[in-house]
Amino acid sequence: MNSTTYSHRKHLENSNFDATAHTEFSSLLSQTDCEAAKHEISAWDGYQQTPLVELDDIAAAAGVKSIYYKDESGRFGLGSFKALGGSYAVFKLADEYKAEHGNLEGFAVATATDGNHGRSVAWGAQRIGVECHIFIHAHVSQQRADAMAALGAEVHRIDGNYDDSLVECETLSSKNNWQIVSDTSWDGYETVPIQVMAGYSVMANEIVEQLDGHIPSHFIIPAGCGGLAGGMLAYFWQVWKDQLPTIVIAESEYSDCVYQSLEANQIKLVNIVDETLMAGLSCGEVSKIIWPLLAKGVQHVVTIPDDGVVPMMQWLARPTSSRASVEGGECSGAGLIALMAANNDPSLKQALNINAQSTILVLGTEGATDPEFYKQAMES
Ligand SMILES: Cc1ncc(COP(=O)(O)O)c(C=O)c1O
Repeated sequence: MNSTTYSHRKHLENSNFDATAHTEFSSLLSQTDCEAAKHEISAWDGYQQTPLVELDDIAAAAGVKSIYYKDESGRFGLGSFKALGGSYAVFKLADEYKAEHGNLEGFAVATATDGNHGRSVAWGAQRIGVECHIFIHAHVSQQRADAMAALGAEVHRIDGNYDDSLVECETLSSKNNWQIVSDTSWDGYETVPIQVMAGYSVMANEIVEQLDGHIPSHFIIPAGCGGLAGGMLAYFWQVWKDQLPTIVIAESEYSDCVYQSLEANQIKLVNIVDETLMAGLSCGEVSKIIWPLLAKGVQHVVTIPDDGVVPMMQWLARPTSSRASVEGGECSGAGLIALMAANNDPSLKQALNINAQSTILVLGTEGATDPEFYKQAMES
C-alpha cells in the first residue's frame, strides 16, 4: 500500500457554521419520526444492528487515535444503508394509501436511482406486493439493474445522467399515477424524503448505542444529494447538541454539489460530466430540504478524486491481527480517503484539526453492491 495514493482536490471551511443552530432544526426530523422508524424497521425479518468496527491499522497510518467504521455491507442482505430509507418510505406511503382506500389496489411506486436507493424501494415494494418502477441512467451498471429487477421491479434505462433519469421518472409517474419515492427533495416534495431520512436515523441510533457514551471528535460523511448527511446530522445534533463532532463532508470531485453550494451560499446545480467510480455519490444537486441544515451544520467539505477508491477497498479487505476483512464497496472508503488525504497534506490536517487524539467516525455505506466491480477491484 502506498499511502500517497490518497489525496484531495478541494477543501472548504464553511464560514456559516453555527454550533448553536441545532434548536432551529429540531422539527426537521422529529424524535417521533425517528422512534416510529426504529419501532417499525427493527420488527422486520432479518433486522440486526450492523457492526461498528475499529480500524486500528488505518488509524495508525492516518495518525489518529481511533477510527470507528459503521459497516453497512450486511444491511438486510441488500448491501447498503440505503436499505433502511427507501423501503421505509414505501411502507409509510402504502400505510397512508391503505388508510384512505382500504387496500393497496392501484398503488405503485417509482424512483430514480444510481442503484442502492432503488434496490431499497424495490425491496420495500416486493415486501408488500406492489408494482415498482425504477429509472436508471446510462452509467448504472447492469449488475445493479439486474439486482433491482430480481426484486420484481420494472427497470427503465434512460440516456444521460442521474438528473435526467429523475426528470423521466417524474414525467411517467405523473402520467401513470405512480407514487414517487425519492431520497432527494424539491419544491413541494418533502414528506417522503423526510421518511427516507427517518429510516436512515435507525443507523444513527445504533451508532450512539454502539459508541456507548463516547462522542467522536470528527464525523466524515459521504454525500451524494446529502440525504444521508442530513439524516445523520439532524439525529446526532439532537442527541449530542453542543458536543457535535466536527462534521466533514466527503464528495467526489466530479459531483461536488455540497462544496459548490456552500461556496456560493445557495444551492448550485453541478452538471456532471464525468461519472465517479463512487456511483452512489454521483448526484448534481443538494436535496432542497437538507440544504439549510447542511448550510449551518457542516464545518468542512473535502472533495476527492477516484484514485484512492480501489486501493481503499483493497485495504479494507485485508484483515489484520486486530480486525477481520471488511467488505467495502466503492462509496465506503470516501471518508477514509479524505482522512488519509489529510494525513498527506499537513495544511488540510491542521485545518480539520485532526491530530493524534482524534477519534473519527466514518460510514462504510455499502458492501459489494456491484459484485463484478468488487471482484475486479480485489483482483487488480
Ligand atoms: C453507498 C452510498 N453511499 C453514500 C450515498 C450518499 O447518500 P446521499 O445521496 O443521501 O447523500 C449513497 C447514495 O446513493 C450510496 O448509495
